[in-house]
Amino acid sequence: MKRSEIKALLAAGKVGETVLVKAWVRTKRGSKNVNFIALNDGSCLQNLQVVADLKSISEEILQRIHTGACIAVEGKLAESQGSGQSVELLANKIDVLGEAHPDEYPLQPKKHSMEFLREIAHLRFRTNTFSAVNRIRHHLIFAVHDYFNSRGFLNIHTPIITGSDAEGAGETFKVTNFDLKNVPVKDGEVDFSEDFFGKETNLTVSGQLEGELAAMAMGKIYTFGPTFRAENSNTSRHLAEFWMIEPEVAFADLDENMDLSEDLLRTLLKSVLENCADDLEFLSKRREDEEKNKKQEDRSPMSLLEQLKFVAENEFKRVSYTEAIDILRNSKPNKKKKFNYLIEGWGADLQSEHERFLVEKHFKQPVILYDYPKDIKAFYMRLNEDGKTVRAMDVLFPGIGEIVGGSQREERLEELKGRMAEMNIPEEELWWYLDLRKFGTAPHAGFGLGFERLVQFATGMGNIRDVIPFPRTPKNAEF
Ligand code: 4AD
Ligand code: MG
Repeated sequence: MKRSEIKALLAAGKVGETVLVKAWVRTKRGSKNVNFIALNDGSCLQNLQVVADLKSISEEILQRIHTGACIAVEGKLAESQGSGQSVELLANKIDVLGEAHPDEYPLQPKKHSMEFLREIAHLRFRTNTFSAVNRIRHHLIFAVHDYFNSRGFLNIHTPIITGSDAEGAGETFKVTNFDLKNVPVKDGEVDFSEDFFGKETNLTVSGQLEGELAAMAMGKIYTFGPTFRAENSNTSRHLAEFWMIEPEVAFADLDENMDLSEDLLRTLLKSVLENCADDLEFLSKRREDEEKNKKQEDRSPMSLLEQLKFVAENEFKRVSYTEAIDILRNSKPNKKKKFNYLIEGWGADLQSEHERFLVEKHFKQPVILYDYPKDIKAFYMRLNEDGKTVRAMDVLFPGIGEIVGGSQREERLEELKGRMAEMNIPEEELWWYLDLRKFGTAPHAGFGLGFERLVQFATGMGNIRDVIPFPRTPKNAEF
């Protein structure tokens, strides 16, 4: 008999039909003679209720079934007696494919903390929360490709191993096959000419520089790949391994770049609202419960659905960095408190609390800040006429702060060389990037959208470690 998925059965299963279902047991309850088994196969949030009567299923089999076991059930669909379900399955035959001993299985049907679930990340897909998050993550992956594909952007694969640090922040993971106990040394320095690639290499922090090469021949491209940063930030918004979406558009300026980021984000979140209703409703209730346990001042300003609509339905406010600093200098986040990090003044980088203040309290709109001081941004951003600011932009969201970072690129060879010299970036390392300015240069712009920050926002999860299956963070690379 052909196996059916629970999602399909609950949507269109016909009473009287005989079906085979293979899935994992969420709970088993009942009396001596009848057992009710809630089954879930990950295809949807809902469980399928199996009714196992001692008349058809032996006691020996029923005794082997516990939370976490995997079973194959053959049976007839019947109209559900319980509420909220269309059909249930009256079992004729059950095979136990894999047992889960109740004294050992860590995922018992009760409330577990997110911290505990991270320790059993190999099993947490089996919870409602993580299966819902991963279904939305999947939906967003396809929505991203669909967005760009349908607008004529080409998807480009950029290298994971590179010899450059695109952001120039020195937060790279080294790639080597040296025996670290016996590294070749020449003139007192590590001799990388002996290394696998014959040079120093690292995991990429961004596909942008290579993406620019493609855009300057093919017009509109995007990358969607893993990126790696060895920044020692133990926050709820940082991962050491995360996925980034980076469109790059030839002939675009910063305004067009802002337009693209706003349209992309609004389209993606609308798509989640329209297509992921069940999972959203579940995650929304879950978040409400979580919020109740928080102190008033730590609570999120909006419910999950409100925050999705906040982006889908509001235009993004565009403000220059300089205007934002003026606003922040004259504001207090609330009556009692000052900002934890005082605004140091023009030139300082904004902290997440400042970004969130601008979005949540001041403008009550998603915000795009642009024209940042050159000293706090990467070398490749286009210098403005004032000589002090660059054509950078950050998109700021409630609860998250920065979700997108981008810029119009410096397309003028001499200006780019000047910025690299100021920032001590050797020209030899990026000769190919400079070549792009020598041969057929043109204005172009792009940005990076942190995929996990997007999933975090779309699911309302408090910690970014809970929106990627196996998070990599300082002191943690289990699984
Ligand atoms: O602002 P960032 O560093 O920009 C770049 O990497 C550019 N090369 C992008 C471009 O112009 N093509 O990173 C872009 C986004 C951030 O806005 C944030 O959403 C996310 O990547 N991000 C992180 N997400 C999770 N963990 C981290 N450690 C992150 N660092 C950045
Ligand atoms: Mg940034």
